[in-house]
Amino acid sequence: MKALVLGGGGREHAIAWKIKQSWDCDKLYSLPGNPGTAQVGTNIAGDPNDFQAVRKAVLDNGIDIVVVGPEEPLVRGLRDRFEEDSDLKDVMFVGPGAAGAALEGSKRFAKEFMERHNIPTAAFRSFSAGQNAEADSFLKTLKPPYVLKADGLAGGKGVLICNSLEQAEEEVEKMLGGKFGKASSTIVIEEFLSGIEVSMFILTDGKSYLMLPEAKDYKRIGDGDTGLNTGGMGAVSPVPFADEEFKNKVKSRIIEPTLKGLAEENIPYKGFIFLGLMNCGGDPYVIEYNVRMGDPETEAVMTRIDSDFLSHLCACAKGTLEGEKLEISEDAALTVVCVSGGYPGSYPKAKKITGDPTLFSNSFTGPVKVFHSGTKEPEDGNLVTSGGRVLAITANSPAEGSVKETIEKGRCLAYSHIQRIKFEGKYFRNDIGLDIIRYCK
Ligand code: AMP
Ligand code: GLY
Repeated sequence: MKALVLGGGGREHAIAWKIKQSWDCDKLYSLPGNPGTAQVGTNIAGDPNDFQAVRKAVLDNGIDIVVVGPEEPLVRGLRDRFEEDSDLKDVMFVGPGAAGAALEGSKRFAKEFMERHNIPTAAFRSFSAGQNAEADSFLKTLKPPYVLKADGLAGGKGVLICNSLEQAEEEVEKMLGGKFGKASSTIVIEEFLSGIEVSMFILTDGKSYLMLPEAKDYKRIGDGDTGLNTGGMGAVSPVPFADEEFKNKVKSRIIEPTLKGLAEENIPYKGFIFLGLMNCGGDPYVIEYNVRMGDPETEAVMTRIDSDFLSHLCACAKGTLEGEKLEISEDAALTVVCVSGGYPGSYPKAKKITGDPTLFSNSFTGPVKVFHSGTKEPEDGNLVTSGGRVLAITANSPAEGSVKETIEKGRCLAYSHIQRIKFEGKYFRNDIGLDIIRYCK
C-alpha cells in the first residue's frame, strides 16, 4: 500500500514513522515533509493547502491512502474536493470534510454544537462586529479572568485570557475591529475554567472509535508554565489523573454525544478528533475540539501505539473501525521540544545542527526518538534550523515500578540525549513531566 502524509512538522514525522512500521506499507510519501520524513519515505514538494499539488502527488504516485496532519487543508475542504473528483473519490482519506472540520475552524460552531448536544463546556456567548455593547454587558456578568476567542483559525494565537474587565473590553474592541483579520469578526467570550488540562484523541469513522493514548502538553515557553504561549514545548503520556473513571466520563459525556451529534446533524466524520479537556475536580469539560492530532503530543502518543497504525487508518477511511483493536504500550513517553532562541517571538534561522548524528539519522529503534519539526537540509548536507520548534526528543521508559518512577526514567533519558544535540540558541524547558511526578507523590 502507498500512503501519503500531508504536512511537514514533528507531528507528521511521528505519524509517518509509525505508518512506515506497518507490514502493509510499501511506499510512504510526505508532502512537503521535512528532513525527518525524508529518512522514512519520500518527500514531495508542495503545499498541503494547494489542492492541485496534492491531487498531482496522489495520481502520479498511485497513492492508496491520504492522512492529513494539519487542520487548515481540512477546514478549507480538501476532503470535499477529493469526494467531488472522479479520479480521487476512491482514494482512502483520513480527515473530515469542511462541515466536520468546523469543529476546529469555528469556535462559535463548536460551542453551539456542544450546547445543542449537552456536552460539558464553559458557559459562553458569541458576538459579531457591531455587538461591542452586548459583549461588554456579557463580560460584566462574568468573573475574572475573562476568556476571549477569535471564532476562526488564527494560527494558535486567537485565545486571550484577560485579568481585568478593562483589558477584556479593550481586547473585545480590537478583536471585533479586526485584530485577527476575518478570524475575529466573530468572537466567543466564555467562562474561565480552572483545573488541569489533558489532551485526548480518538480516531473515528463516525460510528466507532479508537481511543488513542492521552497526553499532557506544556504550552508556555518557560519552566513552571511561565511566559508566552507556544505551539507546545513538551508532552507526557500517560497522564495519571486521566484514570479509568475519568476516561469513562469522557467517553459517556463527551465522545459518544459528539459522535451522536455529528450523525444527527448529518455530518459524516472520518478522522481524528483531539479533545482539549479541562479536568475540573474530576469532571471533564471541553476547552476545544481539534480535527487533527496535537503537536507535540503526537510525538509522544505514536511511540506508545503497539498495533498496526496503518491498518487502523485504513479501517477509519473505509468505515470499518468497529472491532478494530488498538494496542497501547505500558511504557511512558516523554517529549521535550528544542526550540530556536527567541521563539515564540522572532528567532534566527539556518543555524547549523551538530552533535551526535545517530540521533538525527532516524534509524531509531532504541528508547529515544528525535522527530524533526523545524529543520532543513540544504544541498551541502548540513542539517540546519528552519523554524521555532526545531526537534522533538521523545524518550520511552519501560513501566517498571510506579508511574512516577517510569516518568523519572523518561526524563533522565530525554534530557541526557538533548545534551547530544547542539545548535546556536538552543532552548528547551527543563521541567517537562515534573508536575506529573509531583502529582503522583
Ligand atoms: P484553545 O485554543 O481554545 O485551546 O485555548 C488555548 C488555551 O487557552 C487552552 O489550552 C487553555 O489553556 C486556555 N483556555 C481556553 N479556554 C479556556 C477556558 N474557558 N478556561 C480556562 N482556560 C482556557
Ligand atoms: N499541542 C496543542 C495543539 O496541537 O494544538
